[in-house]
Amino acid sequence: MTEQACASARFIDALRRFAFGGQQTLETDESGLRYFVNEFWTAGQRQAHRLHEISYRACFKPQLPAFFITRLTQAGDRVYDPFSGRGTTALEAALHGRAPAGNDINPLSAMLTEPRLAPPPLAAIAERLDGLALVGGKTEPMADDLLAFFHPHTLRQLTALRGWLLQHAASDPVAAWIRMVAINRLTGHSPGFFSVYTLPPNQAASAAAQRKINAKRGQTPPPRDVAALILRKSRSLLADGVPPAHPPAVLMTGPSDSAAALADGSVDLVVTSPPFLDIVDYEGDNWLRGWFAGIDPGAVPIARHRDTAAWEAFIRRTFLCLARVVRPGGFVAFEVGEVRGGRVLLERHVIAAIAGLPFDVLGVMVNAQAFTKTANCWGVGNNAGGTNTNRIVLAVRR
Ligand SMILES: C[S@@+](CC[C@H](N)C(=O)[O-])C[C@H]1O[C@@H](n2cnc3c(N)ncnc32)[C@H](O)[C@@H]1O
Repeated sequence: MTEQACASARFIDALRRFAFGGQQTLETDESGLRYFVNEFWTAGQRQAHRLHEISYRACFKPQLPAFFITRLTQAGDRVYDPFSGRGTTALEAALHGRAPAGNDINPLSAMLTEPRLAPPPLAAIAERLDGLALVGGKTEPMADDLLAFFHPHTLRQLTALRGWLLQHAASDPVAAWIRMVAINRLTGHSPGFFSVYTLPPNQAASAAAQRKINAKRGQTPPPRDVAALILRKSRSLLADGVPPAHPPAVLMTGPSDSAAALADGSVDLVVTSPPFLDIVDYEGDNWLRGWFAGIDPGAVPIARHRDTAAWEAFIRRTFLCLARVVRPGGFVAFEVGEVRGGRVLLERHVIAAIAGLPFDVLGVMVNAQAFTKTANCWGVGNNAGGTNTNRIVLAVRR
């Protein structure tokens, strides 16, 4: 057996022998595709590092990349996510001493990721915040809309902070950290956010929708101390410490089929999750974050595919690029979620998309929370009832 075949066989064997809370892995074959089902990771029981605690639409739990990073890579290996989002894979790679690599079409992704791979000391953050004169600034031309979310006093602080960040965040790691935290504190549903009560922080309402929320709840935005909230969140993010020394990160902003900064065969493991057809409106959900970070949403061509054929073609282009950057014997863990009430099995479209490319499909892992083997098994091919699962297509580069 080649070394590559041995590594694949060891991993499959580990999946078969995996037991959590006494629950053995269930292995089934559905239309020629092998599925491994278990509760391979749970958020509660295996706590994640606090640095992960920033919100992002459709992010996966850190336990997902951790599962693969710890089993399929060694210290120093390169771990890549072509749809990096908040950078869950990149951060988890750094926390394990691996070389992080991430890419996303949205510049927000690198802004959220880079500062957490090598955070500045809390004292430096506090000192920089102290030195900022946030009070007394002007509001913005689009203030009418923003005043649906923020008290005028808060908005003046935010406008001053935004202007300072646009000048300094690209060159000053402490400013970049402050921007990352501020992006995360913009809107939410508790006094820990700059805004009045609104949708959860990873989903900004439109200003019109927010005015309706305010009228319905009889609320007006209360004043907030922007610097104090940033410091408080920084303290919480840093409570578990910082990543150990690790090889330099490669963070890219661009389409998933490019990865120009990664050399051929330089990646040992890919852990990723693409947009699932058109179900998440990343542009709409991120409009306020984009405003704050100075990103023009119209300039970010986020993939949204209504039909599966176009989505398959998009996934194939991504895998063509992965065929270039992943070394022979390197693994790809490609997560898809449920769409269309379980009627469309995206993992099957992933398999179709990579047909003929130099990858061997080892199977599909299903992380099923509290599944039961008795009633209707758990129905991989018939889960219209809405079993809530992650499905990970696992492939190895030939
Ligand atoms: C499901 S989310 C990934 C979330 C990520 N796993 C995390 O934990 O944060 C999909 C990501 O794909 C990005 N995206 C959409 N179209 C893209 C494209 N053509 N190339 C690269 N990234 C794209 C979106 O901006 C979004 O961040």
